[in-house]
Amino acid sequence: MAQIAPSILSCDFARLGEDVKDVCDIGIDYLHIDVMDGAFVPNISFGSAVMKSLNGIAAAPYDVHLMIENPDNLLEDFVTDNTAFITVHQEACRHLNRTVQHIHSLGVKAGVAINPATPVSVLENILCDVDMVLVMSVNPGFGGQKFIPVALDKICQLDEIRKTKGYDFLIEVDGGAGAGNAEALRAAGCDIIVAGTAVFKAADRKEAITLIKG
Ligand code: DX5
Ligand code: ZN
Repeated sequence: MAQIAPSILSCDFARLGEDVKDVCDIGIDYLHIDVMDGAFVPNISFGSAVMKSLNGIAAAPYDVHLMIENPDNLLEDFVTDNTAFITVHQEACRHLNRTVQHIHSLGVKAGVAINPATPVSVLENILCDVDMVLVMSVNPGFGGQKFIPVALDKICQLDEIRKTKGYDFLIEVDGGAGAGNAEALRAAGCDIIVAGTAVFKAADRKEAITLIKG
């Protein structure tokens, strides 16, 4: 069984609160907050004000995914009583260890994300300090893209490393995940499955969530 983190990127933004309440009522583990700056990724989504508008509506903790250059100056903005994780991209941080320390100093769990073309090996010296590794299974920037299979291999590698070294970070996958590949993702060692399209665009959201969690 995996945890699920529906991405609000696939909500109908004109009725964001209703969509979020709907999935929280069904039962989810985290609410995935995709923040894009138009620089690190070729798209702009929304900032912390939109996330905070859900305070009091979202019954699930926030899993914040920052797809932004130099996130250090903005980290504080995303800290609320409801923020469980803040994840930054390895590719966007010049001093990744400092950024991870900064997130921890705010009382929030720290995640590090890697793009499809980034190998697990670059994380060797940060894995002992992170609470989560987010394996991107699409190139970040847009919802509704096709799953890139190299992510499965990376999840296996990370699972092996944490077993061998005794680390306790969680493994999350993000992009193109749904009922069709959730079983393989869980078998590879994935703990948290992010799903945007597969949840919010589903005819039956409850069924989609149940099938993804396994
Ligand atoms: C991609 C985002 C993902 C994505 C998930 O840049 O980080 O969270 O929107 O959406 P689906 O599940 O539709 O691929
Ligand atoms: Zn995401």
